[in-house]
Amino acid sequence: MNPIRRMLVTGGCGFIGSMFIKLELEAHPDRHVVNLDKLTYAGNLENLASVASDPRYQFVRGDIADRDLVGKLIGEGGFDAVVNFAAESHVDRSLLDSGPFIQTNVIGTQVLLDASRQAKVSRYLQVSTDEVYGSLGPTGFFTEETPLAPNSPYSASKAAADLLVRAYCHSFDFPGIITRCSNNYGPYQFPEKLIPLFISNALADQPLPVYGTGLNVRDWIHVTDHCRGISAALRNGRGGEVYNFGGRQEKTNLEITHLLLQHLRKPASLIKHVTDRPGHDQRYAIDCTKAETQLAWKPEVPFEQGLRDTIDWYRQHAPWVQHIKSGDYLKYYSEQYGSRLSS
Ligand code: NAD
Ligand code: DAU
Repeated sequence: MNPIRRMLVTGGCGFIGSMFIKLELEAHPDRHVVNLDKLTYAGNLENLASVASDPRYQFVRGDIADRDLVGKLIGEGGFDAVVNFAAESHVDRSLLDSGPFIQTNVIGTQVLLDASRQAKVSRYLQVSTDEVYGSLGPTGFFTEETPLAPNSPYSASKAAADLLVRAYCHSFDFPGIITRCSNNYGPYQFPEKLIPLFISNALADQPLPVYGTGLNVRDWIHVTDHCRGISAALRNGRGGEVYNFGGRQEKTNLEITHLLLQHLRKPASLIKHVTDRPGHDQRYAIDCTKAETQLAWKPEVPFEQGLRDTIDWYRQHAPWVQHIKSGDYLKYYSEQYGSRLSS
C-alpha cells in the first residue's frame, strides 16, 4: 500500500483529534494534514495553536454532513487516508437531544464514506467507541466479536455509523477500518466529561456530581495511547477489520473521584451523589489482545502518572478552562445539573 503523505482528519479541533494531529505531524516530517471541523461547542482552535502556522497543516471549517463540501474536498484532496473523529461525543447531551447525534454521527459518516469511495481513497478509519457493545456485568470483557447492543442515543448513533462502514466494506470492498476505544483522559478534554469536569469543579471548590451510586466502572486509557493505536491501525490494520483499544485500567467512578480529590488536596465533602444518568451503563472493559498482537500496539501510560500529569495540565491551563466555562457551557450545565444539584 502507498505510504501516507496526505491525510484528512475530521473533528481535529476536539480532544482526541487535536492530539492525533499534533502527534502525527511530530512523528512524520513528510506528513500533510487537512483538518475538517465544524467548530461545534466542543471544537477549539486553541487545541492546535502549536501547529497552526506549520505549512504542513491546513484547517477547513465545515460540516462532515455537507455533501458538496466533502465531495469536493476529498475529490480534489489527493488523500492517502481519511480518519473520522468528527462526532457529537457526549452521552448526557444525547439524552437531552439526539438530533445532532444522528445528523453528524450517522449522516456525516455516510457522506464521508460516499466521498472516500468515489475518490478511491486507499484507507478510511472510523474512530468508534466501546459503548457500541452496551454494558457488562461484574466479569468479562468486550472483544471485537461482542454483539453490538448500544444503550444511549450517542452509542446507537456510533453503532449505526460502524454498521455503515461494515456494509461499505462488505458490499464495495471499501478499505474501511473501525477502531473502538474505551474512556480517554488527558489534556485538552472538554470539561463536560467526568475527569476534566471533576478536576475543574474541585479546583473551584464546586460540588462533584456523582451519578447514582458511583459504582459504575470505566476502563481508562490515556489519549496518547489511543492516538498511537489509531496510527498503528492505519499502518498495520486490514480493511474490513475492527480493533479494540483499552487501557486495562478499570476503576469505579468513586475511585476516580477520590483519587482526584487526594491529588488536589480537596475534601471528600465536595462529592454530591445526584440522580443517576438514565440507562447508565454499569461497566465497560476492553480486551485489546487483537490490537496488541496484530497491530504491535499496547497501552503505555501508567494510569497514576497519566492522571497526575492531567491534573497538573488543568492546574496550569486555567484560562483554557475559563474560556470554555462561560456562555453556552453555563446553559448546558444548568440544564444538566441545576435540579440535580439543588435537590
Ligand atoms: P470532542 O467532542 O472533544 O470533539 C469532537 C470534534 O468534532 C469537535 O472538534 C467538533 O467541532 C467536531 N465536530 C462535531 N460535529 C462535526 C461535524 N458535523 N462536522 C465536522 N466536525 C464536527 O470528541 P472526542 O472526545 O475528541 O472524540 C473524538 C471521537 O472519538 C468521536 O468520534 C468519539 O465518538 C470517539 N471516542 C471518544 C472517546 C472518549 O473517551 N472521548 C472514546 C472512544 C471513542
Ligand atoms: O467509553 C468510551 C466513551 O467514553 C466515549 O465514546 C464517549 O465519547 C465519552 O464521552 C465517554 O463516555 P462516558 O459516558 O463513559 O463518559 P463520561 O465522562 O460522560 O462519564 C464517565 C462516567 O462518569 C460514567 O459512568 C458517568 C459518570 N459521570 C459522568 C459525569 C459527566 C458522573 O458520575 N457524573 C458526571 O457529571
